[in-house]
Amino acid sequence: MHSPATQELVRDHLPPDAELRDMGTDRLKDLIRPEQIYQLVVADLPASFPPLQTLASRPNNLPAQLTPLIGREREVATACSLLRRDDVHLLTLSGPGGTGKTRLALQVAADLLDTFTHGVFFVALAPISDPHMVLTTIAQALEVVGISGGADCQPESLSAH
Ligand SMILES: Nc1ncnc2c1ncn2[C@@H]1O[C@H](COP(=O)(O)OP(=O)(O)OP(=O)(O)O)[C@@H](O)[C@H]1O
Ligand SMILES: [Mg+2]
Repeated sequence: MHSPATQELVRDHLPPDAELRDMGTDRLKDLIRPEQIYQLVVADLPASFPPLQTLASRPNNLPAQLTPLIGREREVATACSLLRRDDVHLLTLSGPGGTGKTRLALQVAADLLDTFTHGVFFVALAPISDPHMVLTTIAQALEVVGISGGADCQPESLSAH
């Protein structure tokens, strides 16, 4: 599969029995904006493959990132394997402000998309200053309807839900 930059570089140098098939645009799991995707098709080699594992494969609201993730391979792998365990339901990333906790969490979420049948959602709670808004904000991100902001939305009652 090729990005437009690679396609530009190789298109005039392909052997006669090879061509690039335009597969349309999709968002890959690096969370960067949608990419034009090309498949290299070569005579006598298989040309049909299962659908690409893209961000469109499961419900999610993961925000596109403007820049690629640098490093963090070990942290992403550790967090993914912890969250794949049946006995782990909550994983907290802690560290000084601006060190990349949210960015790491977003990449972990993208990498785990295939693990969670119902998808993966990002809920930004940082802008929330009113505790009563927590449940409603989560519900909005999950597109759950029928939750009204009332006594049930008190934070202390969350554990009962
Ligand atoms: N590994 C990385 N590669 C590229 N960019 C990164 C990486 N980690 C963080 N960034 C970028 O640095 C900025 C700060 O990261 P982020 O918001 O994830 O930090 P944070 O720890 O969640 O901060 P806060 O404590 O304020 O919530 C963001 O623009 C993010 O995209
Ligand atoms: Mg953050």
